[in-house]
Amino acid sequence: MDVIDIIKTRREPAKLVEPAPSDALLSAAITAAASAPDHKMLRPCRFVKIEGDARKEFGELMAKSLKARQPDADATMIEREKTKALRAPIIVVAVATIKPGAPEVEQLLTAGAAVQNFTLALHGSGFASLWRTGAPAYDAIVKQGLGIDPKDHIVGFIYVGSIGAMGPEKKRQTDQEIVSNWSHAH
Ligand SMILES: Cc1cc2nc3c(=O)[nH]c(=O)nc-3n(C[C@H](O)[C@H](O)[C@H](O)COP(=O)(O)O)c2cc1C
Repeated sequence: MDVIDIIKTRREPAKLVEPAPSDALLSAAITAAASAPDHKMLRPCRFVKIEGDARKEFGELMAKSLKARQPDADATMIEREKTKALRAPIIVVAVATIKPGAPEVEQLLTAGAAVQNFTLALHGSGFASLWRTGAPAYDAIVKQGLGIDPKDHIVGFIYVGSIGAMGPEKKRQTDQEIVSNWSHAH
């Protein structure tokens, strides 16, 4: 596949399964992530890897944060939060570590571009990922539990594995839908 086909064919699977990418591939995909454009070279991107039994501890942390956000959450909701952590062999938490020197939004853009590099590198190598945020990404308990500074941002919980099942195709925009021509003279 050429690069445009790799980009266009990336889709989130409905289900992720084992096997996980090898350590070498994961490391190569994270290195690819780190080549994202970066204004002022502030290096605002960090990845926290959660594998194996650490996913269970992550599930406990997610459950604890859900209970704090929603004290009336029932046992089913708490259990679902714990099992969600096991839906992929690897979770990579992508973090924008905000530094002085460039607008915060630009550092978030760098982190977002890094995540996209990561997901495309995995897809181009035959693996798949889910990009998730939701309330846990903005939750102080989750940040603290993962050792993330309150001023920094979780830009995604990236669930990584092999494709178990694909969902229905989503319609994507064409260039005609998103491009307009500008000229000063019109
Ligand atoms: C910043 C960000 C956060 C996201 N968070 C969620 C999420 O919490 N739940 C979810 O179902 N999808 C989430 N997604 C994934 C999008 O829903 C998904 O990319 C979109 O439906 C398009 O599907 P595709 O990636 O297969 O093209 C997120 C994507 C981005 C960029």
